[in-house]
Amino acid sequence: MSRVSLTQYLVEQQREHGHIPGELRLLIEVVARTCKRIAISVNKGALGDVLGSAGTANVQGEVQKKLDVIANELLLEANEWGGNLAAMASEEMDTIHLVPNRYPQGEYLLLYDPLDGSSNIDVNVSIGTIFSVLKKPGTQQGVSEADFLQPGQSQVAAGYCVYGPQTMLVLTVGDGVAMFTLDREMGSWSLTAENVRIPEDTKEFAINMSNLRHWAPPVRRYIDECLAGTTGPRKKDFNMRWVASMVADVHRILTRGGIFMYPWDQREPDKPGKLRLMYEANPMAFLVEQAGGAATNGVQRILELQPGKLHERVSVILGSKNEVERVTGYHTPRP
Ligand code: AHG
Ligand code: MN
Ligand code: MN
Repeated sequence: MSRVSLTQYLVEQQREHGHIPGELRLLIEVVARTCKRIAISVNKGALGDVLGSAGTANVQGEVQKKLDVIANELLLEANEWGGNLAAMASEEMDTIHLVPNRYPQGEYLLLYDPLDGSSNIDVNVSIGTIFSVLKKPGTQQGVSEADFLQPGQSQVAAGYCVYGPQTMLVLTVGDGVAMFTLDREMGSWSLTAENVRIPEDTKEFAINMSNLRHWAPPVRRYIDECLAGTTGPRKKDFNMRWVASMVADVHRILTRGGIFMYPWDQREPDKPGKLRLMYEANPMAFLVEQAGGAATNGVQRILELQPGKLHERVSVILGSKNEVERVTGYHTPRP
């Protein structure tokens, strides 16, 4: 049986539902092709001299790994010349990157976390690439950082690639979620799951438990109740999983349900959370909602948040709908 390729899937989406203009299709295909190149580097590991620190720090003060830098450069290089982009923004770059004048300018904006789960690179655990596509607002020439500051519900496409036991690309163009597996012999992405749905209930949570003493009371309450198991108010036992690569944790939730949280904590009260709104929370919230799940910051839907700056951080609660609504309800009790 021959499987549907990424190109065929996108062409059919375009033809049947009119969701994807040709330019957007090309852009998604270039990102997908770049993920194959990143996968090759990831797989080489020590043989390709890609492990360890790059000896530099990004704008957020985080030490960059060699693969953070390599993946960022591969994405920049591949997306500059296609003519469908106006500019790019990355977790690993201080400011936006304009498409050079020698290439035609397109109408899309691409945002990405080139390598998610950096702490897992050197220990051979799943990592990923996350991306989000926006349309440049207005018709004026040129692009500024303000053009990127759109709420997540304006995304026209989002997805991630997970470099795990299998290399998979997970995508939404606003019409459900599809998963593609990299066929290494063929060198192509094959559709392996369509209309992905996250079960509304779950017995599995993902959170970095070592931060428990720093959380706000609503998160603490939710986890305490899960830990209490069958004899507690939830009357069931919960399981815990924490990969520490958001891509891998979200992939598990899209596959079998669960709730993922990276909440605000009191050590840095002015910092809303650890994860980045534009490169991590928005694309994942788009995917999760498209699969029937929910995503909030405890108070508001992630996709409705108006970003104030490019590298903004946010508290994240996402996954199985009923659980996300429960934690959110603990933050904002109904009168
Ligand atoms: P990045 O590697 O892009 O900086 O993101 C890492 C993030 C996210 O993937 C993960 O959920 C979280 O950091 C894990 O952090 P801790 O293990 O420090 O809690
Ligand atoms: Mn990340
Ligand atoms: Mn990263």
